[in-house]
Amino acid sequence: MSPKSIRWGLLSTARINERLIPVIQDGARSELLAVASGSGQDKAARYATQWHIPRAYGSYEALLADPEVDVVYLSLPNALHAPWAIRAAEAGKHILCEKPLALTATEVDHMAAAAQRHGVLLQEAVMMRYHQQTIELQQRVASGAIGEVRLIRGLFTFTLDRPGDIRLNPALGGGSIWDLGSYPVSFMRAMLGAEPVEVQGWQTSGEGGVDLSFAGQLRFASGAQTQFFSSFQAVPQANAELIGSTGTIHLDLPYVNQVGVTSKVRISRLQSNRSSGTFGDASSQLEEETLTYENVNAYQAEVEAMVASVLKETEPVVSLADSRGNIAALEALCLSARENRPVRL
Ligand SMILES: NC(=O)c1ccc[n+]([C@@H]2O[C@H](COP(=O)([O-])OP(=O)(O)OC[C@H]3O[C@@H](n4cnc5c(N)ncnc54)[C@H](OP(=O)(O)O)[C@@H]3O)[C@@H](O)[C@H]2O)c1
Repeated sequence: MSPKSIRWGLLSTARINERLIPVIQDGARSELLAVASGSGQDKAARYATQWHIPRAYGSYEALLADPEVDVVYLSLPNALHAPWAIRAAEAGKHILCEKPLALTATEVDHMAAAAQRHGVLLQEAVMMRYHQQTIELQQRVASGAIGEVRLIRGLFTFTLDRPGDIRLNPALGGGSIWDLGSYPVSFMRAMLGAEPVEVQGWQTSGEGGVDLSFAGQLRFASGAQTQFFSSFQAVPQANAELIGSTGTIHLDLPYVNQVGVTSKVRISRLQSNRSSGTFGDASSQLEEETLTYENVNAYQAEVEAMVASVLKETEPVVSLADSRGNIAALEALCLSARENRPVRL
């Protein structure tokens, strides 16, 4: 590994690659060296030509055997994250693995153990967590911007009308909670800087048992409560709101997966020199602040953060303990929905 340039390999030809390819190719310290397709050499070669990638491999194993690949970007279906992250670690590759990192906390433990054993870095590509908006808001909330957080609500929905999509396949880790709900749950845990102590979930199931819609509630030891809704059966929507003892925060694009858009965070706080209203009439005493993020590319921030961590310049933005906490919460929510009971963590 040259200290100035990290050489990347793409493990699959997934659609999400299209967000990462330009930022790896344009990265000052990154080089996109190879792509592998599990569907054979022809598909890999066509893809490599289309995206100007120098090396094409017709199997994931072949890419992992390339000694010049330093980091793999693992964009396989959710159920294949754990097995291929472990294979990549065994081949001595650092791994930027798509979200959700795995489907059980036990899988995360096996992935973390393999990464440690082979001295490689494993980090979850949950791009929202690398976005300046999320990182700044985490700091503001932790320093009391809205007092004690009482409630966080978030939803993430779209209409999934691609038959055969990996998101509808139970064997591949499908379901709206894994695809979409994983974002609000990660966001809420990040804002509270804590793990839930109890969760309850309800799902609307589709064919094969994947959830098409999921509603969840999480309780934290501080007394904070959070609620989220994810769905493949609704108009595209994404928002989040935090209600605190002294203010509120509203995000119009909390999970910031669109490149080049402007996102806004509106913070309202009780004016410190005014007494609070008795019957919810204190809104006239709120002072407003709007934070605006223009043209931030969270995928670029994610790639740069991965490079800096591989080069041991910075700690990972998303630690494995953090990713494990998310997967444990999601796993507990699924168990709760299956057994129709609250689940303690
Ligand atoms: N961070 C984000 O913004 C974001 C956005 C979307 C998705 N994601 C995540 O990225 C991952 C991929 O999602 P995607 O929508 O991009 O996937 P996709 O377009 O459906 O591609 C998945 C790829 O995995 C490979 N694959 C291997 N086994 C497969 C199987 N049994 N069935 C289908 N494909 C198989 C295929 O590539 P080859 O045949 O070439 O090997 C396929 O192209 C998921 O984990 C998802 O959660 C993240």
